[in-house]
Amino acid sequence: MHNLLIITVSTRPTRKGHVFAPWLQSVAEADPDWNVSVADLGEIDLPMFDEPQHPRLGNYAGEHTKAWSKTVAAADAFVIVTPEYNYGAPPSIINALDYLAAEWAYKPVGFLSYGGISGGMRSVQMLKQFNTTLKMMPIPEAVTVPMFTSLIDAEGKLNPTPIMETAAGTMLAELKKWTGALKTLR
Ligand SMILES: Cc1cc2nc3c(=O)[nH]c(=O)nc-3n(C[C@H](O)[C@H](O)[C@H](O)COP(=O)(O)O)c2cc1C
Repeated sequence: MHNLLIITVSTRPTRKGHVFAPWLQSVAEADPDWNVSVADLGEIDLPMFDEPQHPRLGNYAGEHTKAWSKTVAAADAFVIVTPEYNYGAPPSIINALDYLAAEWAYKPVGFLSYGGISGGMRSVQMLKQFNTTLKMMPIPEAVTVPMFTSLIDAEGKLNPTPIMETAAGTMLAELKKWTGALKTLR
């Protein structure tokens, strides 16, 4: 059994991407090897990075940091669900990554991204630079959702495409391989 943490990035009160995490959670939970939980950066509401010491020391001052550390340390793998802002990664996820160090290390990360024609891919590409510096393993298999608003109906319900279903299955299967392998390294 592996602990999978789905991290939803958008913090906006009018965010549209909140539909993806519950769908991905239900896909992942069909596999009994995953124990899935969701970390919503909008709800967690981390302040702009405010730790006095480098996170590598693990000597955290803030209660919010200690709580975030506990959440991330419990995970064996991550999926980051992210939009793209101004051709890049939203500051909420960069901030959330910066807060910690050892808690991320030697763990794999997959992505579900959404946006206009790019499907949020430029956000993902930017995040990989942060991930590898934190010793995470970003996997290439991903769920990429271009023109995503066309998949949300008038009631706000997501209608996933067959391509999304296939991509999610492929990404999660690959993530599981890395999760098992990196557990031995940790
Ligand atoms: C500040 C800002 C910048 C944006 N930049 C991009 C962009 O570079 N590429 C893109 O595809 N969509 C962009 N969008 C449109 C988003 O894809 C769209 O607003 C989406 O709903 C954002 O996800 P969220 O609602 O979950 O926050 C941008 C939106 C905002 C608010």
